Amino acid sequence: MKSLVILFLLFVAVFSIVSHVNASAWQPRFDTGGLSRDIFPKGFVFGSAASAYQVEGMANKDGRGSSIWDVFVKVPGNIKNNATGEVSIDQYNHYKEDVNLMQMMNFDAYRFSISWPRIFPNGTGEVNWKGVAYYNRLIDYMLEKGITPHANLYHYDLPLALQERYGGFLSKQIVKDYADYAEFCFKTFGDRIKNWWTFNEPKVIASLGFDNGINPPNRCSKEFGNCTEGNSATEPYIAAHHLILSHAEASKRYREKYKAEQKGRVGVFTDFVWYEPLTKSKADNYAAQRARDFHIGWFLHPFVYGEYPRTMQKIVGERLPKFSKSELEIVKNSFDVLGLNHYTSYYIYDAHQPKTNVIGYQHDWNVGYAYERNGVPIGRQAHSPWIYEVPSGIYKVVTYVKERYGNPEIILSENGMDDPGNVPFPEALFDTNRVNYYTTYLKELKRAMDDGANVTGYFAWSMLDNFEWLLGYTSRFGLIYVDYNDLKRYPKMSAYWFRQMLQRKKA
Ligand SMILES: *[C@@H]1O[C@H](CO)[C@@H](O)[C@H](O)[C@H]1NC(C)=O
Ligand SMILES: *[C@@H]1O[C@H](CO)[C@@H](O)[C@H](O)[C@H]1NC(C)=O
Ligand SMILES: *[C@@H]1O[C@H](CO)[C@@H](O)[C@H](O)[C@H]1NC(C)=O
Ligand SMILES: *[C@@H]1O[C@H](CO)[C@@H](O)[C@H](O)[C@H]1NC(C)=O
Repeated sequence: MKSLVILFLLFVAVFSIVSHVNASAWQPRFDTGGLSRDIFPKGFVFGSAASAYQVEGMANKDGRGSSIWDVFVKVPGNIKNNATGEVSIDQYNHYKEDVNLMQMMNFDAYRFSISWPRIFPNGTGEVNWKGVAYYNRLIDYMLEKGITPHANLYHYDLPLALQERYGGFLSKQIVKDYADYAEFCFKTFGDRIKNWWTFNEPKVIASLGFDNGINPPNRCSKEFGNCTEGNSATEPYIAAHHLILSHAEASKRYREKYKAEQKGRVGVFTDFVWYEPLTKSKADNYAAQRARDFHIGWFLHPFVYGEYPRTMQKIVGERLPKFSKSELEIVKNSFDVLGLNHYTSYYIYDAHQPKTNVIGYQHDWNVGYAYERNGVPIGRQAHSPWIYEVPSGIYKVVTYVKERYGNPEIILSENGMDDPGNVPFPEALFDTNRVNYYTTYLKELKRAMDDGANVTGYFAWSMLDNFEWLLGYTSRFGLIYVDYNDLKRYPKMSAYWFRQMLQRKKA
């Protein structure tokens, strides 16, 4: 192992020298497992992804307002080692270097997010033009380097002002304020951005923010977490309802006022875990289906069929908000392309909660989770305990969405795994587990496409190591290693693997 590490470092050193002389003169040789750009359909988009608070830094500089995360990270004990995203990897000042690295890896696109409080420090009203100027610089440089921007309008960073003013996503006022912010972005950046995404992982926003309360705004019933306020029986459903309406209203405005001229499209990133029944029993099969309905059906069902899944209606009953007739008109068919974030799979078994139990969103699922079957683990565990590596899961989620939701156009919008933050530097570059993860998952994605799924793009999470929310800097998801002392970037083996897999045939 050690000699392999040294060999790899030697290779990196030689490669960096050679590539400065003539980048196309010499290519490393990796086994890509038969994968290459050419086996994917023409025009298939490969990119990498990140989000504003995780990479930008400059959190309290250049006029940016606070988000709900800025106050949360300052409470000692909330984040591993009390870390914050105040500096992170400072993409705000290193964006050119980062876009150059995307080009080096032969990526076509970058999925970044716009920080709402950087544009509107007070949530609404006055614009912070320094923030606008930053995104203009970033977008223009991407276009100059041939990297297509995919702009995500919301990645967990709600302006603190709106949380304090009316409770954020618990109030219907958020729908108008979000749509106004989105419209400002369409108007300001839409001449260059053709791929708009409204929300990252609305399920995570609603459940982690309002059911177990581990993410801001930290609301839950006391039985389900350590929150001072909240109601896990109702608030996750209310927040989700307003997320759905906010997406729909932004999408409506784009279609009515900007689409004809700008010719772009609007999608939403939904996260989806594959839920495999633990046994062949009918009860476990129903339980796995309930899990899928409560996870992705919560959002996809309204968007595609105009109502929440029947299982949810039956179990949640009066606690589930209803769409008015006019709301339904804008909710149904409100995405042009669907983003699917996928990492892992779990076994699910039937586990009905006693009727007397206190009520909450996760309890409503009436399921139990298992991570092995007959003593065999479902997959190798990454550093993050929630990630089990199960390549067939990506085939199953994509095929499930194809079959259940009318074969929409899908972009696989996040996929990846993490290593511990403290792996010694040379070993961290030699990321064979990550290369294996991408090889096996991409093969299974291709198999789903061969079987008829309309997948038109793929984004690796993440472009660079960065601030991983509750784990701070103790988790590294990047293709590029970042030294947090001096913010220097070092491509890992997986970066060179993508570079080779994605090389373009000479015309
Ligand atoms: C986090 O901050 C608290 C309060 O200052 C301190 O007691 C604790 O030791 C810190 N934790 C770490 C890991 O630095
Ligand atoms: C923020 O918005 C609120 C509500 O519109 C307003 O009352 C307040 O004055 C604004 N604050 C600043 C600093 O603009
Ligand atoms: C719950 O939150 C309080 C206040 O933030 C904190 O002092 C306490 O340690 C937390 N308890 C647990 C079990 O996390
Ligand atoms: C995939 O979706 C795109 C966009 O909706 C559509 O133009 C294309 O025909 C679809 N392809 C297949 C094979 O369904």
